[in-house]
Amino acid sequence: MTNNWWAKAYDKMKDLEYDYHYIDFSTAKQEVEFIEEVLNLSKGAEILDLGCGNGRHSILLAQKGYKVRALDYSAQILAQAKREANRREVKVDFIKGDMREIGDKGKYDGIIVLDGSFGIFSDKENEELIKRVSASLKVGGRLLIQSFNPYYIANNQSISYENEGDKTFIRETRFDPYSGKVVDKISLLNNNGEKKEEIPTRYYRAYTLPELDKMFAKANLGTMEVYGHNESYTPKVDESFNVREHTVFYTVVQKVKINIYP
Ligand SMILES: C[S@@+](CC[C@H](N)C(=O)[O-])C[C@H]1O[C@@H](n2cnc3c(N)ncnc32)[C@H](O)[C@@H]1O
Repeated sequence: MTNNWWAKAYDKMKDLEYDYHYIDFSTAKQEVEFIEEVLNLSKGAEILDLGCGNGRHSILLAQKGYKVRALDYSAQILAQAKREANRREVKVDFIKGDMREIGDKGKYDGIIVLDGSFGIFSDKENEELIKRVSASLKVGGRLLIQSFNPYYIANNQSISYENEGDKTFIRETRFDPYSGKVVDKISLLNNNGEKKEEIPTRYYRAYTLPELDKMFAKANLGTMEVYGHNESYTPKVDESFNVREHTVFYTVVQKVKINIYP
């Protein structure tokens, strides 16, 4: 059952104190430079961060003077993001909501969907989401999406143990070739090494490049640019995508004409 896992998974991670520490502000700093460059942002540009998590990109972008709205479904993560923005005295318009319901037609210069925030619904819903995102962009506005590289994930399925304070989690990541989804299962272990509690399994559709290209074309989004990442998983404009080595890739598209959706 893959339906709506996202509604519970991230709050459960917070409850169990599973901190996705790889999602931090220091890596976001370099990602923000990449975001500014590929979205071709000018001063005061309006940005929407979908599935903003702890707000690491939105806060750093707002610090640079952009007008940022950031949306997430998890009340717990959003509370953390708001605390951090207050601590840094930065203004971000944080909103709790479901990204499939975004409105704001023709408002944004740039929209970002990063680090596990894309590919989480059914194919039909993912396609609808891209159409809505396109409708929310100004003509000439740009969209940046990070998504899993299916070819890499299929060849690098893994089981790893992760320690968080005095807790140990087991993380099992595999690729399901029938649905084209990455299946990411995290469980808390007890002292005997047995599974004690599970975070709802996360499923991410790992689209191929032609699949994405088709989806973008249907949503009036133009020629697709593709970027890879360096060894520290940081995207760079001069880092070409390497299908055998890169876990994820970044696609950038520009809205080319007035959208009549929905
Ligand atoms: C892995 S986190 C990534 C956070 C952030 N983009 C980053 O790079 O740090 C994915 C986020 O997407 C949010 N999310 C999942 N489903 C959502 C939905 N339907 N609407 C809005 N946010 C959602 C989750 O709550 C979670 O915070």
